[in-house]
Amino acid sequence: MPKLLDFPIIVINFKTYLESLGDRGMRIAKDAESVSNETGVCICVAPQFTDIKSIANAVSIPVFAQHVDPYPPGSYTGSISVEAIKDAGAIGSILNHSEKKLQLASIFAAVKMLKNAGMFSLVCAEDVEPAMAVAALSPTMLAVEPPELIGTGIPVSKARPEIVSESVQRIRSINREIKILCGAGITRGDDVRRAIELGSDGVLLASGVVKAKDPRAVIKEMAEAVLSSR
Ligand code: G3P
Repeated sequence: MPKLLDFPIIVINFKTYLESLGDRGMRIAKDAESVSNETGVCICVAPQFTDIKSIANAVSIPVFAQHVDPYPPGSYTGSISVEAIKDAGAIGSILNHSEKKLQLASIFAAVKMLKNAGMFSLVCAEDVEPAMAVAALSPTMLAVEPPELIGTGIPVSKARPEIVSESVQRIRSINREIKILCGAGITRGDDVRRAIELGSDGVLLASGVVKAKDPRAVIKEMAEAVLSSR
């Protein structure tokens, strides 16, 4: 794996929140970059599609797309190709987020296309069993996110610790290469600390940072939690 990613990792998904659109997304990406430079913790951002290029040009931290379609360039109106996100400056993509689900065959194809393009894949799964199915596709990272906790501020690492520890244990028993993240409701440094204590390699989060009054302060608190768990 190229050294662009380092673990434990923090991945901030901008979703389509107004608070992460355009200049406001740029601000959050710059905050993430400055905290990453200050702490040495790997922090990635997944901006809205239309902001990928400007953000990737402006920051040195890894930029991911939120989704990519498993189609080659050509007559696929409205689709997002691997080539397009790569050209815009992304180094990988989230796939199968519970808000943008894909069939297993499409996930497999997209993981393969990203790999062939020298890019990373971060595939989401809603529970332990789907996570096991996804693990068979050997993505770079796999994020377990129970949908009922997404956007609630109730952290998966505290409300459903067993889903994290069981995923970690079962996925590692079949594939030690995949980095395992957890997400949903992660809003504080302590939620990140707990996620790492449960054996995960990092967190995937959105509203806790994007909708925070002071996103930089939250990112800093989370990065410090990563440092203290090293
Ligand atoms: O992709 C991250 C995610 O779905 C979790 O969202 O707002 O609960 O951090 P949130």
